[in-house]
Amino acid sequence: MSVKLGRNDPCWCKSGKKYKACHQAFDEKIAMYASKGCIVPSHDIIKNADEIAGIKESAKINVAVLDYIEEHIHAGMTTEEIDKIVYEKTTKMGGIPAPLHYEGYPYSVCTSVNEQVCHGFPSKDVVLQEGDIINVDVSTILNGYFSDSSRMFCIGEVSPEKKKLVEVTKECVELGLKEVKPWGFLGDMGQAVHDHAFANGYTVVREIGGHGIGLQFHEDPWVGYNSKRGEEMLMVPGMIFTIEPMVNMGKADIYVDSKNDWEVYTEDGLPSAQWEIQVLVTEDGHEVISW
Ligand code: MF3
Ligand code: CO
Repeated sequence: MSVKLGRNDPCWCKSGKKYKACHQAFDEKIAMYASKGCIVPSHDIIKNADEIAGIKESAKINVAVLDYIEEHIHAGMTTEEIDKIVYEKTTKMGGIPAPLHYEGYPYSVCTSVNEQVCHGFPSKDVVLQEGDIINVDVSTILNGYFSDSSRMFCIGEVSPEKKKLVEVTKECVELGLKEVKPWGFLGDMGQAVHDHAFANGYTVVREIGGHGIGLQFHEDPWVGYNSKRGEEMLMVPGMIFTIEPMVNMGKADIYVDSKNDWEVYTEDGLPSAQWEIQVLVTEDGHEVISW
């Protein structure tokens, strides 16, 4: 419960500025949306300038690790080697791989191949083959600040069908990103993602979505893609979240491997693709922090 701040009190965002010169008008605007019945963000997911700077430093490592993987990934490599690279690169740059030991997750990265939807375990037994598509999902902690993004990689020549899935999924994220602006709604983004996937004959996984991030790995809001324009949480400056749709070539249904309770697969065995970006809502639009 927050106590009502006086105009001259220090702002709740810890900027050090007076409330009236910081978030007072912002709070009044949010209260107006809330009174209309909109879902509005709470203060604890609004980042101040120092926090944003810290999260961006973390994201530099995340992006560098993904760039390195992009240069070195190849047929014949095991996903265990990718895990080693992510651990080595991240720690060398002063960061910690966020997945490692997160809720018992045993590796530094998620590597999801073909019909694996997400949370694929790196393994010495998974040797990348020409024609595979793989999502490498990297997340970093630096000085307590979190970053998270993932990319798809095509190993050698892949079928036109898989290539299109990978490309359309990237377009889904780009179209969703265009909708990210203050005083819009997460549903504006979600519908853009969903509509593009659907128009291409694909489906979007319903059960797993993006998330707020920055001071913790997973914060509010939960970010789905089966939402509609004008629905879901109001987007406001200082919010940071991920856009990370999992797009399936076939049906949307998925299952979790009961052997480890982590790895997620498509029910119909058809391929799935995912790209993930981390985005900041700014005063006049958005800024991609990690990609
Ligand atoms: N990067 C994944 C995400 O988008 C991490 C899942 S949790 C993990 O949230 F433990 F598997 F890393
Ligand atoms: Co994520």
